[in-house]
Amino acid sequence: MPNSESYVEVAKIDEIPPGKMKHVELDGKDIVVCNLNSKFYAMDDRCGHMNALLSMGNISNDGVVTCPFHGARFDVTTGKKVKEPVLTPSQQMEPLPKTWQNYMEHVGQLMSHIKTYDQKTYEVQVEGNRIKIRA
Ligand code: FES
Repeated sequence: MPNSESYVEVAKIDEIPPGKMKHVELDGKDIVVCNLNSKFYAMDDRCGHMNALLSMGNISNDGVVTCPFHGARFDVTTGKKVKEPVLTPSQQMEPLPKTWQNYMEHVGQLMSHIKTYDQKTYEVQVEGNRIKIRA
């Protein structure tokens, strides 16, 4: 059982309104703290695909964080990947010139070999208006 000394304050409650995320750093690690219906969760902020900051993406009402780079999705309550990255241009985009289509296809093929990992999660404790993460 961890004692309260192993938890480190990373933010105040009013810094992260419901439905919002905040990037924090703890012991050199990038961590995103999320407010899901007034309950706080924390996981690695570096995407398990290609290291983008998840805190620059968005979070849904049911706690799914979408990466701003290629759209991989992670459940903030468990850190589990719930959707693979999108590696091809959207059908809704204007058609790209042929050279760009070839380039995007090549990049998509290269990226298809990159495994996307689940996110590490962290225990969160709230004391008064302070949000703490287990170090
Ligand atoms: S870096 Fe997050 S989906 Fe590619």
